[in-house]
Amino acid sequence: MLRAVSGCNRSSGPLISTDMIAPEQAEPRASTSFSGATSPAEKTDADADGDPSYEIVSPDQADGVEMWRLAVESQTLDANSRYAYVLWCRDFAGASVIARRNDGRAVGYVTGYLRPERPHTLFIWQVCVDPVARGAGLAGRMLDAVWDRTAQDAATDRMETTITPDNESSIRLFSSFARRHDTTIEREDLFGPDLLGDEHEPEHLYRIGPIAAEKVDNT
Ligand SMILES: CC(C)(COP(=O)(O)OP(=O)(O)OC[C@H]1O[C@@H](n2cnc3c(N)ncnc32)[C@H](O)[C@@H]1OP(=O)(O)O)[C@@H](O)C(=O)NCCC(=O)NCCS
Repeated sequence: MLRAVSGCNRSSGPLISTDMIAPEQAEPRASTSFSGATSPAEKTDADADGDPSYEIVSPDQADGVEMWRLAVESQTLDANSRYAYVLWCRDFAGASVIARRNDGRAVGYVTGYLRPERPHTLFIWQVCVDPVARGAGLAGRMLDAVWDRTAQDAATDRMETTITPDNESSIRLFSSFARRHDTTIEREDLFGPDLLGDEHEPEHLYRIGPIAAEKVDNT
């Protein structure tokens, strides 16, 4: 998941072992160019139509094809089959969201699931935002929406994802999530070339948490 296009920055040397880091430490140094995403300096309007007020909802099966389209158009993510996204929307809608503009067009999605052996851990598989909608906090809002739902429905207390070392926008997105939730990140090797082949960047596991439950004010 979260695969970045080739020819981008890569960390050198052997893969990292488990380390616990503050969100700031996970982030790349002020930088360089970002792969597959608009840089902040280039971020102008959040949406070509000028309306950043997106509806963020659980997907239904008909949304699978829209997710597939966004994944293909991103040219960054591993685009899976249409079938995979439709199936995802059937079985994992409770841990996924889709974002729509006023005119109904899908402009982003998050796919996730609760890990069968760690049901309080939300694993985020893919996050995708249409280039026209980037730079306005939509990915962060979608992550928060998925998180809030699973925290409420399944008492999740940790989030996991995998990120290739050159996907700096993704690292920043998840570091920002950890910061908002006042928690830390553990980072370790997960899938290397032995499993993914030489053409695929290694995937590092980011484990975020523990994340305290939101206090509900009933007064
Ligand atoms: C990565 C992606 C989902 C970000 O979507 P987005 O809606 O533009 O992200 P947000 O505006 O919510 O930004 C979230 C945080 O990441 C930072 N960020 C996101 N993209 C960035 C970029 N290209 N350069 C620098 N920072 C970036 C933002 O500044 C923000 O940090 P802050 O909360 O501290 O201000 C989007 O660029 C995308 O779909 N990329 C292609 C697919 C992909 O790589 N997905 C993996 C992402 S997990």
